[in-house]
Amino acid sequence: MKIFIKTAAMLVCCGLLFSQAFAGEVEVLHWWTSGGEAKSVAVLKNLLEKEGHTWKDMAVAGGAGENAMTVLKTRAMAGNPPTAAQVKGPAIQEWAEEGLLANLDEVAKKEDWDNLVPSVVTDIMKYKGSYVAVPVNVHKINWMWCNPAIFVKAGARIPTTWEQFKTAAQKIKAAGFLPVAFGGQSWQEATVFESVVVGQAGPEFYKKALVDTDPKALNSPEMIKALETFKMIKNFTDKDAPGRDWNMATAMVIKGEAAMQFMGDWAKGEFTAAGKNPGSDYVAVPVPETAGSYLFNVDSFIMFDVKDKEAKKAQAAMARLILSNTFQEVFNVNKGSIPVKTGVSKTAFDDIALRSMDEFAAGAANKTLMPSMAHGMAVSPAVQGAIYDVVTKFYNSDMSAKDAAAQLVSAVADAE
Ligand code: BGC
Repeated sequence: MKIFIKTAAMLVCCGLLFSQAFAGEVEVLHWWTSGGEAKSVAVLKNLLEKEGHTWKDMAVAGGAGENAMTVLKTRAMAGNPPTAAQVKGPAIQEWAEEGLLANLDEVAKKEDWDNLVPSVVTDIMKYKGSYVAVPVNVHKINWMWCNPAIFVKAGARIPTTWEQFKTAAQKIKAAGFLPVAFGGQSWQEATVFESVVVGQAGPEFYKKALVDTDPKALNSPEMIKALETFKMIKNFTDKDAPGRDWNMATAMVIKGEAAMQFMGDWAKGEFTAAGKNPGSDYVAVPVPETAGSYLFNVDSFIMFDVKDKEAKKAQAAMARLILSNTFQEVFNVNKGSIPVKTGVSKTAFDDIALRSMDEFAAGAANKTLMPSMAHGMAVSPAVQGAIYDVVTKFYNSDMSAKDAAAQLVSAVADAE
């Protein structure tokens, strides 16, 4: 008996030692809280837990991550950053400049990221030639999500131009439906606005205006026209739009309350989570006049430099798992995005994703992809904030498009 107890105690002890030696904790700050997003991020949590690591969830609600970024800054300033955080685009460089990030070159080399991920993405993940962030997926922004049953009932056609949009929206309104499910939050307004700019003024103009922030493009007849078209959409939204979360707007299209939503393909995650089928229950087409253009948005995680050896191991495991084929497939099917690396099986993806994959590959090869301003891929957070402010002020007041275009120039100059 004594021997048994002693052995059992030793086993328990060894077990503890074993789990302590091989398992670490990652505290992950992210903003994936909608139905489809939560289902998606759970895939990563489960994979990490299967390897014995612990996932401490730090989810901060708020589309496009504005709230999450505020929390992140507060935590970092207090000297208590999480182990990993969802951060994108030029902001990655800003965090790296602070000297707070872990170098991920070892795992990147082992897993061959340089050869499996296109350089348009890896360039964003590196600081001074070293990986400081892990890319997760590719989202396309310029989609329009439609409820085809409403179009049929209203005798309207799904529009491909803004003129057609007006005609369709008027018919839908006359038939007693809401044409556009709109979420009146500055990031959602900016999301719609940038798609309108691409469609109306073209990709070259978009780059000059919203990537290079060239004052001549920001304050130009093209910009004024795009602002006017953007504001025209407001005629087809409801009075409850201000403040509405993006997933609530998607739910209106899902439930047959509204005909269209302009939103990136994370909206598809909501349709998927609701058990809806593309092609029959809902249809995804490019935002009017943007066919052939691809506004892209890559989610990614930065890792903070931690001293604890086990936490370091858990970070490396997280980085490796994110770019594993299993994760890339299951996560992206749920999230509405597409894999960020090559070599992932396409069988589980629907036509919308397959189309996006072809377009992304072609755009990466021809260098015609456009980084999303609204989703932190194109300009610094400060400049992005300045553009958000003008766009939202314009959309929610009687400011003229001419004044808004002029204000874009001064707001951007102040932020740069
Ligand atoms: C992110 C998506 C997210 C969406 C809504 C975007 O900026 O890239 O992953 O689903 O915001 O929160």
